[in-house]
Amino acid sequence: MLAVVLRGTGGPEVLVPEDLPVPAPGPGQVLLRVEAAAVSSGETMLRSGAIPMPFPFPLVLGAEAVGVVERIGEGVDPALEGTRVVAITGGRGSYAEYAAVDVAMTAAVPSGLSPTDAVAMAASGAMAFGLARKAGLAGGETVLVEGGSGKIGGYLVRRARELGATRVIATAGTAAGRDRVRALGAQVVVDHSEPDWPDLLPAEPVDVVFDMVGGAVAGRLLDVLTPSTGRILLYGTLSGAPAVVDSAKIRERGLQVVGCGGPGWAAGIFGVDYPEFLAAAGRGDVPRPAIDAVLPLADAAEAHRRLEAGRTSGRILLVP
Ligand SMILES: NC(=O)c1ccc[n+]([C@@H]2O[C@H](COP(=O)([O-])OP(=O)(O)OC[C@H]3O[C@@H](n4cnc5c(N)ncnc54)[C@H](OP(=O)(O)O)[C@@H]3O)[C@@H](O)[C@H]2O)c1
Repeated sequence: MLAVVLRGTGGPEVLVPEDLPVPAPGPGQVLLRVEAAAVSSGETMLRSGAIPMPFPFPLVLGAEAVGVVERIGEGVDPALEGTRVVAITGGRGSYAEYAAVDVAMTAAVPSGLSPTDAVAMAASGAMAFGLARKAGLAGGETVLVEGGSGKIGGYLVRRARELGATRVIATAGTAAGRDRVRALGAQVVVDHSEPDWPDLLPAEPVDVVFDMVGGAVAGRLLDVLTPSTGRILLYGTLSGAPAVVDSAKIRERGLQVVGCGGPGWAAGIFGVDYPEFLAAAGRGDVPRPAIDAVLPLADAAEAHRRLEAGRTSGRILLVP
């Protein structure tokens, strides 16, 4: 099969198309005939070495795929053969014609959704649904979404409004991003390119903060939370540093700090939020995703170049 192999970190040229054996699905896995793989900035950072590579080389990169179940491994329901699913690979394997993935990390694509739309939207949309569920968003609350201009953040702004948040505050780093989050329903928009942007937030307390920046910013945002009921969900470390939070402040103000990562979190998302999000997308209840380009799998290096240049206006997909 054709696969894009990475033998070490470096520029986009280190992504090299090669001929590899088709992987065999292990127990609890299915073999997917990949129809499209989505490329993410996390993958460009792994490839370049900007963030540590958790896997040994050589490897096939790629976390998000859509495809048809071609074979099943031991212990998997045979009825799955021939079904179209989206899958999260755990970080490697989707830049290929075939990928062996854990069946627990797959969700069926409804008939109303094209494979390319499904892979372009599923991971970010399901994450947003999962974060909103974990936050226990109750109607009438004020919510702060960092990076509302991003994929997950954009879906979160919409989801918070759908679930009855009365005030959604979102951050974006560009004028175009700020226009986009307003159009998605955010009533207050803050420019996170300002170094002290938490100072620009409205004076009223915030019930829920969705944090993917981490570092000192996450710690500062404890101050804006509503005493006794305020919660901050930590789901990313875009600043490069884990959230620095003051435990005395958490205790004294009765706040909740909720970690949203790790295998248990991912399994919950797959069990609940993928099916719910995909069903909503299949019904047309979620806007179709922006797709910037659909490139041949062998052009993975070009896909990384375009993503790193920062001029994309939607997902880049690779098609075998
Ligand atoms: N816990 C999990 O299971 C999980 C799963 C997937 C992803 N994540 C994390 O979720 C985060 C978002 O992922 P995504 O796919 O939505 O990313 P994305 O589409 O690339 O969007 C990134 C967002 O971050 C914003 N941003 C950049 N610098 C910022 C700063 N200093 N302060 C605040 N916002 C800033 C960008 O805003 P502008 O472009 O407007 O500047 C953009 O809105 C990432 O940190 C990722 O690692 C976590």
